[in-house]
Amino acid sequence: MKVLERVEDAIEYAESMRRANLSIGLVPTMGALHRGHLSLVEQARRECDRVIVTIFVNPTQFGPGEDLSKYPKTLEADLEACRELGVDLVFCGRTEGEGAVYSEGFQTWVEVEKISKPLCGVYRPIHFRGVATVVTLLFEIFKPHRAYFGLKDFQQARLLERMALDLRMGIQVCLLPTVREDDGLAMSSRNRYLNPEERAEAVGLSRALHKARDAFEGGETSPEVLLNSFHEEVSKYPLLKVQYAEIRDAWTLEEVTEPVIHSLEQGVVLAASAFLGVTRLIDNVWLDPR
Ligand code: PAJ
Repeated sequence: MKVLERVEDAIEYAESMRRANLSIGLVPTMGALHRGHLSLVEQARRECDRVIVTIFVNPTQFGPGEDLSKYPKTLEADLEACRELGVDLVFCGRTEGEGAVYSEGFQTWVEVEKISKPLCGVYRPIHFRGVATVVTLLFEIFKPHRAYFGLKDFQQARLLERMALDLRMGIQVCLLPTVREDDGLAMSSRNRYLNPEERAEAVGLSRALHKARDAFEGGETSPEVLLNSFHEEVSKYPLLKVQYAEIRDAWTLEEVTEPVIHSLEQGVVLAASAFLGVTRLIDNVWLDPR
């Protein structure tokens, strides 16, 4: 397994793979890898000749006061996990200096206008611009055939899919289901921030989402009633402070007004974010009528 840090070296590596007619699968991450990340790597390994994992804590997607400086770093373990799964290249991008991901004087941004606005976009106004821009950069560097993202970050997944479509990038965006801990908590690098009491209550977020999903599957069609069942369950976990919980069109992320919920072909998503102390978690369930 190759490990590269300089953008120029990464470009050269990917170019030689393409010249050899090998398909490239890209898995962008910020490291602190867990089984959620690794499920993307495994899928890429099954579908592509060469698998590239990027580990880059992208500064432009963090707002002031967010956790950029304390974002967990477990590089040795990450490399070991990648090696075990047969990854071909790990690209550990540099934030500054020679060969850095962002060139000096960088000032070009990619904005996905509508999808970036609601849900997390309300509370993290520059976040999705940073995500779209860095993923565009990674797509330019590696020119992958396929790129893998998790539905755990539902809004991000939809936004990147839209971006690839709008800009005719010619890259297949592959979205994979959320991997969860045994108790249902969605895996996240940020779960490491939780103390034992917070960890015990973190499960409330997925329980509440799944409670609403059960109601949906039982035939409940009113967004209001579904949200009530979410909030009722969440209220059993006093440490869990909900920031938002909303039901939106699973494709456009536009607002849903009843009683259309079952007639939407793509279904709807119930997406939520919540704080446990200073740690912010997000999760969602896709309510798919099909
Ligand atoms: P990061 O949070 O490291 O996540 C990398 C990828 O792993 C994303 O596509 C994310 O949706 C996926 N992922 C995370 N937890 C998951 C889980 N429990 N199940 C399935 N997939 C999961 O998302 C980012 O990094 C960044 O925004 C990035 C796209 C790399 C741009 O900087």
